[in-house]
Amino acid sequence: MDSNTPPNIIVTRRLPGGVHERLTTLFGAQLNLEDKPFSKKQLMEAVQTADVLVPTVTDVIDSDIIGAAGPQLKLIANFGAGTDHIDRAAAHKKGIIITNTPGVLTQDTADFVMALILAVPRRLVEADRLTRAGKFTGWTPTGILGRRVRGKKLGIVGMGRIGQAVARRARAFGLGVHYHNRHPVSAPIENELGARYWEDLDSMLSAVDIVTLNCPSTPATHHLIDKKRLALMPAHSVIINTSRGEIIDEAALASAIKNGEIAGAGLDVYENEPDIHPSLLELPNVILAPHIASATHESRLEMGEKVMINIRALFDGHQCPDRVLPPSGNI
Ligand code: 8YV
Repeated sequence: MDSNTPPNIIVTRRLPGGVHERLTTLFGAQLNLEDKPFSKKQLMEAVQTADVLVPTVTDVIDSDIIGAAGPQLKLIANFGAGTDHIDRAAAHKKGIIITNTPGVLTQDTADFVMALILAVPRRLVEADRLTRAGKFTGWTPTGILGRRVRGKKLGIVGMGRIGQAVARRARAFGLGVHYHNRHPVSAPIENELGARYWEDLDSMLSAVDIVTLNCPSTPATHHLIDKKRLALMPAHSVIINTSRGEIIDEAALASAIKNGEIAGAGLDVYENEPDIHPSLLELPNVILAPHIASATHESRLEMGEKVMINIRALFDGHQCPDRVLPPSGNI
């Protein structure tokens, strides 16, 4: 970057409130004012001139886009924690830094997971629909019976920051905490969470009542929950997914729920967003949210702050604090 020319920062989406203003006034960033994702062509054009690109989860930054990037592109400062939509190998080859926004969305996402853990077994959305439809005709001993949450076993797949934040909440609701992860967490954390480690995912799935997916999307977790694994889960069990849609085989999930192989699901993410498998739309025991687990005013503001801190570090010649590539060890 020539120190006399202002850097070209391109933000692919309209960002909320203060973030938008600060990016513009502090950095002269160009924001996409339309609230719709850039097309592939727009992304290709953006990387030809941007020094910094700020994408979101809806931008697939594949090898074509990285390939089209000019030599001035130094940083992809993702507005979000997951960076599975960015081709890391291609970025690595070109020496492009990738940063993300970890930590600031952990608690809000864990709250949302907990909301689904409570709402699915207690049929909250179904109850709301019934009430709005004028079908609440008075209390009955048999109306909308759900399943008790307290005393049940929760299986957390992925015990990173969000998984651990879910575990803390789950304990307060009287759930037994079980988890599967590539490696067990440290003994002090395991003790604090009162969590039991299962090295074998299949065994955990058949032993728990509620499963929550809190692992990143990688080639190893693609369709981690498939037809075979859904068949291992008890018929009364439910699954919650707020991580990435492709971790579950969505067609297999829809048929497992339809056939009563499992009791329901709470989903915030989908394999082909914004498309949703049509069978899921028809199932009353599935809660469908539009990828909003981290959607609070506070977290969006803090995500924006993280983006700006990473950009500022680059301009000041420091290491970007939230580096995913090259790895900083804090992801
Ligand atoms: C974000 C998310 O809202 O941070 C993530 O990885 O999935 C979401 O919570 C989204 O990524 C924004 O780009």
